[in-house]
Amino acid sequence: MNPTRGKKRKIRLLFVCLGNICRSPAAEGIMSEIIEKNSLQELIEVDSAGTSGWHEGELPDERMRLHGEKRGYDFCSRSRKIKKEDLTAFDYILVMDENNYKTVQSLTSNDMETAKIHLMTEYSVQYRHLHDLIPDPYYGGLSGFELVLDLLEDACEGLLLTIKKDHSLA
Ligand code: 4NP
Repeated sequence: MNPTRGKKRKIRLLFVCLGNICRSPAAEGIMSEIIEKNSLQELIEVDSAGTSGWHEGELPDERMRLHGEKRGYDFCSRSRKIKKEDLTAFDYILVMDENNYKTVQSLTSNDMETAKIHLMTEYSVQYRHLHDLIPDPYYGGLSGFELVLDLLEDACEGLLLTIKKDHSLA
């Protein structure tokens, strides 16, 4: 008997930014917490990647980790560059800004893959119409990291609502 028969494939989310050391690892960490709080670990899995490979293998930026810790998160993924196969392996590809969108789109092979790409701010609830991207905090001050966390916490909650709707989850 095939032990995997009948077992549903998980819904896979990939968060993408430029360096995969600030925004997308934070989104991955925040979404993991939300998934756990909703007891959906068996149904949804998360990962993150960068459109560049500049920080390959590195932990998230220290400033991002520190600001995350203050809110109870442990951002500990390792940076990796997005690859073409990610477009087939993942169901939702969540990008932080238009540049990320264009780069990921250039990796797609068909319309079905393009349809998987979404701007993270599409899912904003509280911040709807106030921010149309998750701003890159890398060269800015510390308040930029707090803003990224505020925007991501809000958009991740909205994303879960959409996934629940899309997949008829309770
Ligand atoms: P991220 O931020 O895309 O949110 O990870 C950046 C990280 C590194 C660089 C730029 C943005 N960089 O130029 O190295």
